[in-house]
Amino acid sequence: MIIAIASDHAGVQLKAEIKEFLISQGVDCRDLGPEGSSSVDYPDYGLKVAEMVSRGDVERGVLICGTGIGMSIVANKLPGVRAALCSEPVSARMSRLHNNANILVMGGRMIGAVMAQEIVKTWLATPFEGGRHEIRLGKITVIENKYSNEIKKS
Ligand code: RB5
Repeated sequence: MIIAIASDHAGVQLKAEIKEFLISQGVDCRDLGPEGSSSVDYPDYGLKVAEMVSRGDVERGVLICGTGIGMSIVANKLPGVRAALCSEPVSARMSRLHNNANILVMGGRMIGAVMAQEIVKTWLATPFEGGRHEIRLGKITVIENKYSNEIKKS
């Protein structure tokens, strides 16, 4: 599996730890930055990963900022992106089973590396359940299409 990962300065330490963990799990991990810990704006880095997932260039993405909230807001602006902010493994599991989440978001200032690894492990191992959840995701796509078409018209 190919996974794109990025963060802002508040998530750069956890990004390095999770990148190493992903590689140890045999994941082809594409690090889209940042490299250092200088202050950067999370929308710039959230967009990089969300664009790759939205275009289908990678199967999944991981985003980390201080709380995970900013990255979630940015990523979910893009068509086809289902970004889930998780701070424990149960939410990570449900985000795959019910929401078919394709971007995992975590807060680098909220959780430690061990918890983050457990979240990632669960998120990678859990399949989408489909069935009734497919119908619900279809409704989200309808909403997404409706409003993006309205924006295009105006
Ligand atoms: C950066 O200070 C912080 O605002 C950012 O990492 C994130 O928590 C935003 O949601």
